[in-house]
Amino acid sequence: MVSYETLLVDVADRVATITINRPDKRNALNAAVRREIIEALDHFSSDDNARVIVITGAGDKAFIAGADINEFAERTPVEQRAVMAERRIFDEIAGFAKPVIAMINGFALGGGCEVALACDVRVAARSAKLGQPEIKLGIIPGGGGTQRLPRMVGLGTAMRLILTGELIGAEEAAGLGLVDVLVDDAELRTRTYDIARAMAAHSPLTLRLAKAAIRGSEEMPLAAGLAYERELFITAFGSNDKREGVAAFLEKRAAIFEGR
Ligand code: COA
Repeated sequence: MVSYETLLVDVADRVATITINRPDKRNALNAAVRREIIEALDHFSSDDNARVIVITGAGDKAFIAGADINEFAERTPVEQRAVMAERRIFDEIAGFAKPVIAMINGFALGGGCEVALACDVRVAARSAKLGQPEIKLGIIPGGGGTQRLPRMVGLGTAMRLILTGELIGAEEAAGLGLVDVLVDDAELRTRTYDIARAMAAHSPLTLRLAKAAIRGSEEMPLAAGLAYERELFITAFGSNDKREGVAAFLEKRAAIFEGR
């Protein structure tokens, strides 16, 4: 297993976990964290043992408390433009071929909330707090918050959260559709890994097709999205895993998927 300076990474039961490991800085995203998240995703993209990815933060206080404020405090617009021209973790997560689950164990603020928004499913502990507080620093969300948040919770709620910068509890976030699965703190790991393992039991090829089709719904008008779904559905028909899944059902046994 590759080792990282700012992440803890492991794989068990076909589920890879990326833990941002700067608990004393509330897991704030600095350049090293961002670079290593992309390295870890690149590594897991070709690791057949990693069929689903869980992203979380170390410690019990924060998922990710946003971009590292010390790092960008003195940055000029030219420097900021160069940083934002690099591969972005938000787009890498949303576009990652395998499902990515955010396990939100504390503050998910700014870039941390945007990481959660980019993930495919958000599971949050009841004590977690989410928000886009950038406005308090004289900036706006820059990791997709102004685009992904309104698509998820509607324009008015996104306006309220981004323009006030207020933090909300996981319970309210669940009511708004920003958190998909709300759990008691003690249940966070169990419930997250139950979901991750349930996904990982399926064909990696079919997971990829399903995620691509659903992500297509963010981009495309309905007719184009339906045509895209049809193509991916037909692609699934050419797979060994479709033959195996259907045969296993008819033979009343568990399917063994190979991702082909
Ligand atoms: N960037 C850099 N450092 C951060 C940080 C961030 N986004 N968030 C927290 N930290 C650091 C603090 O500076 C502090 O460092 P220090 O011990 O060297 O002084 C350490 O993490 C602990 O933070 P603290 O504020 O003492 O913890 P807390 O539990 O009382 O509060 C937060 C946690 C997350 C509510 C608070 O730290 C906060 O508001 N952070 C900024 C959130 C934000 O604005 N994010 C958007 C950035 S664009």
